[in-house]
Amino acid sequence: MKTKIFITGSSGFIGFHVAKKYLDKGLKVHGLDSMNNYYDVNLKRSRLKILNKYKNFSFTKGNITNYKILSKTVSKFKPSIIIHLAAQAGVRYSIENPKVYLESNIIGSYHILEIAKKMKIKHLIMASSSSIYGANKRFPFREIDRTDHQISFYAATKKSSESLAHSYSNLWNLPITILRFFTVYGPWGRPDMAYFKFTKNILRGKKIEIFNKGKMYRDYTYIDDITDGVYKLSSKIPKIKKNKRFKNDSLSHVAPIRILNIGNTKRINLLDFIYTLEKILGKKAKKKFMPMQKGDVQSTLSDTSLLRRITGYNPKTKYQEGIKKFLNWYLNYYN
Ligand SMILES: NC(=O)c1ccc[n+]([C@@H]2O[C@H](COP(=O)([O-])OP(=O)(O)OC[C@H]3O[C@@H](n4cnc5c(N)ncnc54)[C@H](O)[C@@H]3O)[C@@H](O)[C@H]2O)c1
Repeated sequence: MKTKIFITGSSGFIGFHVAKKYLDKGLKVHGLDSMNNYYDVNLKRSRLKILNKYKNFSFTKGNITNYKILSKTVSKFKPSIIIHLAAQAGVRYSIENPKVYLESNIIGSYHILEIAKKMKIKHLIMASSSSIYGANKRFPFREIDRTDHQISFYAATKKSSESLAHSYSNLWNLPITILRFFTVYGPWGRPDMAYFKFTKNILRGKKIEIFNKGKMYRDYTYIDDITDGVYKLSSKIPKIKKNKRFKNDSLSHVAPIRILNIGNTKRINLLDFIYTLEKILGKKAKKKFMPMQKGDVQSTLSDTSLLRRITGYNPKTKYQEGIKKFLNWYLNYYN
C-alpha cells in the first residue's frame, strides 16, 4: 500500500511545496487548509490549483481549531505520516493580534497531537521556527542549546507547541520530529516576508523599510532544500534507543521525539540580500532606515549537522541563485 501523507497548511508556501514533492514521488497526499486571508488568498488558490491537478491529491478546506472536521478528515484518509505546517506565521502580526496565534498554533497543534495519538500515526512532523532561539547569543544555533528566551509572541507559541509535543510523545509513545525552519524563501513565497515586500516595492519605485539600519542577519533557506530535507526525514522515525545517539543529539531521553534545525548554515546581511535583489532587477531600492522592530531577532544561523548525520541533508542553493529563481517566478506570476 502506498504511504499516505496528511499535510496541514497545504495551500501555504511551505505546505504547497512539500505536498508537491510527495506527489511528484507518486505518493498519496491529503491537504487541509483554512485558506485564511492573512495574505492574498488568490496566491493560496493558485497553489491549490496546481496541487489539484494531481490525481493522488485530495483536499479539505477546514480549520485545525475545529477538532470535529479535523478528526473526521484524518480518520477517513488514514495517513501513516502527518506533516503539520498550518500555523499563524509572522513575528510582527503576533504583536497586534496574539489571540489568533494561541488558537492556531497552540489549540490547533493540540488537536493534531490528539488525532495523531488516536490514529497511532507512524511519524508526526511538526513545524517550529528559528525564532524560538530568541535572544540566544551562541552561534550557530544548535538543537541542544537552551531556548528559554523567546522575544516574540509568535516564537512563544511555537515553543509551547514543542513542549506539548514532548508531553504527548512521552505519554503515548508517539514518534514526532520537530523541524525548526530558518527563513524560508523562494517561488510561491509568502507576501508578508521582507524579501517579497522588498521586491514589490523596488519594482513599484516605493520605499522599502530596513530595520535596525540594516544590521540584520538571516540564515536564508531556499525552499527546494527545505522540501528535500523534509522528504528525506519522513522515513527517519525517532525511536528511543539507549546508547545509539548521534553527536549532539536532541532526541529526548524519555520519548521518541527529536528536534531538528533546517537551514542553509550561512548568515547573510540584509543589505547584501537587498543589493542582490537590486542587481538582478536592475533597479535601485529607495531605502528608509528604521530602528530595530519589537519582537525581531537581529541574527539567526543554523547548525544543521544533526539533520545531515541523520539524513545526509546538504543544502545546495546559494542565496544569489535562490533570489534569481524567486524573481523569475515573481515576474512571471505578477507579469
Ligand atoms: N516561511 C518561513 O520562513 C518559516 C520559518 C519558520 C517557521 N515556519 C513555519 O512553517 C510553517 C509553514 O509556514 P509558511 O511559510 O508556509 O506559512 P503560510 O502562511 O504560507 O502557510 C500556512 C498555511 O496554514 C494555513 N492556516 C493558518 N492557520 C490555519 C488554521 N487554523 N487551520 C488551517 N489552516 C491554517 C494558512 O491558510 C496557510 O495556507 C508554519 O508552521 C510556520 O510557522 C515558516
